[in-house]
Amino acid sequence: MNKALRKVIIAGNWKMNKTPSEAKALLSEIIPLVKDADCEVVACVPYVDLAVAVETVKGSNIKIGAENAHWAESGAFTGEISTGMLKEIGVDYVVIGHSERRQYFGETDATVNLRTKAVLAAGMTPIVCVGELKEEREAKITEEIVGKQLKLDFAGISADNMKNIVIAYEPVWAIGTGLTATPAQAEEVCAFIRETLAKMYSKDVADSVTIQYGGSMNDTNAAELLSKEDVDGGLIGGASLVSSKFSAIVSAANA
Ligand code: 13P
Repeated sequence: MNKALRKVIIAGNWKMNKTPSEAKALLSEIIPLVKDADCEVVACVPYVDLAVAVETVKGSNIKIGAENAHWAESGAFTGEISTGMLKEIGVDYVVIGHSERRQYFGETDATVNLRTKAVLAAGMTPIVCVGELKEEREAKITEEIVGKQLKLDFAGISADNMKNIVIAYEPVWAIGTGLTATPAQAEEVCAFIRETLAKMYSKDVADSVTIQYGGSMNDTNAAELLSKEDVDGGLIGGASLVSSKFSAIVSAANA
């Protein structure tokens, strides 16, 4: 990470875990543990937990994120949630294009693009997830896959808006598997993402975008991953559900 150039962000992605009362309890445990963090600390929680999460973290340094958002302002989209609804509750970040949404819920680069634009327009920060499948890494086409995702996911997004986007590099084979990308593998792809942004936009934009690593990041491997120049934070699944582990990752980012 390079704190001089960009914001370091440690974000939990709780996925489909924790009821509202459990969310309140977990955040209450995390608050005192991360109060001296010298990075941005975010908890992305299920929709029904958002209101209680925002209330619970009031007065603390923790920001709250949602895990998805629809692109339309309102309308006949049963089961969906708009950016306006999230903004009014007090949400600051929205995870977009997580591989679980791409794998199980028909998310495409085209819908990631629409959702990202809607989140930006509402004044929130999208955390846009990209990453290759195991077969794609084995076929040595990781850069081709991630490069294509970046081009399609950010099509039509201006340089100024790009500076307000966070990218999470999450190799799909490392998510929830206990298999972590080595620090060198994480750095290689995060650096490739930054080079691609420099080509698509400018060096200035590329230098300012926070690029997180996600995929089995935990309290024991975080420090080494975060020591890499182009790894500016983490998007953490399993370990974000345990206050001691999540706060240890935040401490690793403080170093
Ligand atoms: P795990 O940390 O559980 O591997 O999940 C990573 C992830 O998908 C974060 O978005």
